[in-house]
Amino acid sequence: MTAPLRTDPATVRVALGDRSYDIVIGRGLIASLGARIEALRPRAKVFIVTDANIELHHLDTVEETLAESAIAASQLIVAPGEGSKSFRVFEQVCEAIIAARIERADLVIALGGGVIGDLAGFAAAAVRRGIDYVQVPTTLLAQVDSSVGGKTAINSARGKNLIGAFHQPILVVADTALLDTLPPREFRAGYAEVAKYGLLGDAAFFSWLEANWRDVFAGGKSSGAREHAIAVSCRAKASIVARDERETGERALLNLGHTFGHALEAACGFSDRLLHGEAVAAGMALAFEFSARLGLLPQAEAARAIRHLAEVGLPTRPKDIAGGLPDADALMALMAQDKKVKRGMLTFILVRGIGAAFVEHGLDAAQVRAFLSEKLAER
Ligand SMILES: NC(=O)c1ccc[n+]([C@@H]2O[C@H](COP(=O)([O-])OP(=O)(O)OC[C@H]3O[C@@H](n4cnc5c(N)ncnc54)[C@H](O)[C@@H]3O)[C@@H](O)[C@H]2O)c1
Ligand SMILES: [Zn+2]
Repeated sequence: MTAPLRTDPATVRVALGDRSYDIVIGRGLIASLGARIEALRPRAKVFIVTDANIELHHLDTVEETLAESAIAASQLIVAPGEGSKSFRVFEQVCEAIIAARIERADLVIALGGGVIGDLAGFAAAAVRRGIDYVQVPTTLLAQVDSSVGGKTAINSARGKNLIGAFHQPILVVADTALLDTLPPREFRAGYAEVAKYGLLGDAAFFSWLEANWRDVFAGGKSSGAREHAIAVSCRAKASIVARDERETGERALLNLGHTFGHALEAACGFSDRLLHGEAVAAGMALAFEFSARLGLLPQAEAARAIRHLAEVGLPTRPKDIAGGLPDADALMALMAQDKKVKRGMLTFILVRGIGAAFVEHGLDAAQVRAFLSEKLAER
């Protein structure tokens, strides 16, 4: 017997031909994980990859639901944090999957945030040239972004996410109650990616967020605001991914705020000083302001976008970032290292308004540099 669901789950389909899959979103959904896996892949064994924080809060519940469906499970628990997206830990995960005799008909379960999703997803892509896997995202960022779309990767000493593969999951189960144990700062950082979907392509959703963000943060059993925000975000990402799985065009829109953001993140050493979502918030604010500077949208509209990010407590200016930052030249160099560089030209996502982002290839570097140096001077 599986426990009754506490909210009716929403299902978002990622339409990718024979690699299509569902994202199921709802509060209390985890109790149905075993039954969902059994329905999709009868008699498969599973191998769970998770981290020590998630083990503490949620591994028991996952093991319970699998046991209820008589699914044989083994697991590996890695250290929390970006450090686990390394060759060393990747090797451990692959060896553990092989040692557990997981074969092509079996499944890997990525139970965790973006770190676990990327790491376990890449291991699933590599072991036996590809084992199917299920994403069970446990952070807001993972529920709205990293668990959807099939990008998996570990880090190189020379840069983030440089070693990886496209490998779509066969199912994503996003239980919004799992987010109740997430540190508030992590939740807020993930919210930057939620706001991103409004800012890049859905002005009505952005207005809804302005009115309802407090309910999204509060979660709660009855309001359904959190579930709605996650479902809209997943639908936005799913439709972009369905049209451009391998980022040859439109998928780049998802990088709104990420070029500036990655430079700031790198400048902070990818540390707790600035979480990814926080960097993205600051990056989106800069992208809106820069776009206004170029005359692409009214200053007041850029200010409205930035106001919302600031209101939820996200950084929007270099001076909101604690500690020192390098100068504009150093930030430009960090941007140039980013993999979104084509033949020496920076690709920027600019905006013509809230909900109207577009890809600009080859923006004048001197103009970007001047803008950044002005922003840094405000510190
Ligand atoms: N593949 C993609 O498309 C994609 C997209 C965006 C980001 N990413 C990657 O995602 C990673 C960041 O992911 P993240 O922000 O989820 O970070 P994360 O996986 O490190 O999780 C953040 C922290 O929260 C803890 N945690 C996770 N779930 C919890 C829960 N329910 N309760 C309590 N604590 C919990 C983790 O242990 C960790 O300490 C980066 O490596 C980034 O490159 C990938
Ligand atoms: Zn991001």
